[in-house]
Amino acid sequence: MAWRGLKLYSSPAVSSLGCLARFTRLQSSVPEPVEEEETRENAQKETSVARRKKSNFAGEEIRPFSSFLTDTFGRNHDYLRISLTERCNLRCQYCMPEAGVDLTPKQKLLSTEEVVTLARLFVSQGVNKIRLTGGEPLVRPDVVDIVSELNKLRSLGLETIAMTTNALTLKRKLPQLHKAGLNLLNISLDTLVPAKFEFITRRKGWEKVMEGLEKALELGYNPVKLNCVVMRGVNEEEICDFVAMTEKKALDVRFIEYMPFDGNKWNHNKMVTYQEMLDTIRQRWPDLEKMRDGPNDTSKAYRVPGFRGQMGFVTSMSEHFCGSCNRLRITADGNLKVCLFGNSEVSLRDTLRARTSEEELLKIIGAAVGRKKKQHAGMFNIAKMKNRPMILIGG
Ligand SMILES: C[S@@+](CC[C@H](N)C(=O)[O-])C[C@H]1O[C@@H](n2cnc3c(N)ncnc32)[C@H](O)[C@@H]1O
Ligand code: SF4
Repeated sequence: MAWRGLKLYSSPAVSSLGCLARFTRLQSSVPEPVEEEETRENAQKETSVARRKKSNFAGEEIRPFSSFLTDTFGRNHDYLRISLTERCNLRCQYCMPEAGVDLTPKQKLLSTEEVVTLARLFVSQGVNKIRLTGGEPLVRPDVVDIVSELNKLRSLGLETIAMTTNALTLKRKLPQLHKAGLNLLNISLDTLVPAKFEFITRRKGWEKVMEGLEKALELGYNPVKLNCVVMRGVNEEEICDFVAMTEKKALDVRFIEYMPFDGNKWNHNKMVTYQEMLDTIRQRWPDLEKMRDGPNDTSKAYRVPGFRGQMGFVTSMSEHFCGSCNRLRITADGNLKVCLFGNSEVSLRDTLRARTSEEELLKIIGAAVGRKKKQHAGMFNIAKMKNRPMILIGG
């Protein structure tokens, strides 16, 4: 069971944050039950909601979701994606221009402390999931420290610490990250053919990624999510090979529609739509089954009956899911981006460094969230719009 629109906070956590949130105390409110979700991630949320329900009876506070993180369309933003770096040890064609990108000088990037301060502020307002991304988050030397610090925010309501990584150095770093509190992992892998990996990423390393993937399974990440950007003429004939991997392994393969960003030479013909992917899979597995999706899921979940793992389709282009968007992004240089495909940004770094009060910072965040549009401009308009290359946004 999950509750819509209401959050419970333990009193000490709230008071230690200076009671910044414009919340109302609603101790007598009875939350509305909504239907059970099926995914394992949602099952995790269930447990924590059940715990909170008990807390309610123990007399803790029930408050509506922060108005700073609620937009004019009533979307509650409880999921924050933080880009830790603009650097990467791969050069994926769909993510960055061939000539590379101009890197922001180090002093203009968020420091460890600034990342944690911002994370704490967002969690105090109701964010319950933080994803670390980049660039490649594992190239940042303080990545384990950041995860450890985020782990301390669990007492304030943070439930999920996730990471999206190319897994090139994952085998070595994952045991420490796991110990530090990382509890959800997305690994990007677009091909099962080593030579093609080198073509797509302009670097070698397929075997290392596979070792990282095995390490994640060995450490019990369940499921390990695999992000696969499907591109016509590049890897679309591998779709069924990826599905076959879900037979024995606890994988959730997420087929992502190829999206346009600055410098990635996107064109409509290279994009393979969700419907096309489904048709391909159904030819081999006609009994492919639709699963139920969670309220904010970005992917449409399916599985082959009897298989251990499952798959999902991220249909940002052919069927956008803006109506249920609960995501905010902070770029490595400290800008808040309320939409992946929108170019409006506001610098939280400059506000933090100007020693502005938390109240002022929240007002700036609230104003940016308030300007969030109902939906993105449509794939052809996005393709013409100025935006950052994906590597500088943090996917
Ligand atoms: C920008 S990367 C950053 C994290 C890490 N370096 C990685 O590759 O997993 C995050 C995700 O964005 C996806 N991505 C990048 N460019 C994309 C595009 N043009 N269309 C769809 N997905 C894209 C990548 O495949 C990856 O799964
Ligand atoms: S998708 Fe990830 S691994 Fe590939 S270039 Fe972009 S940031 Fe690097």
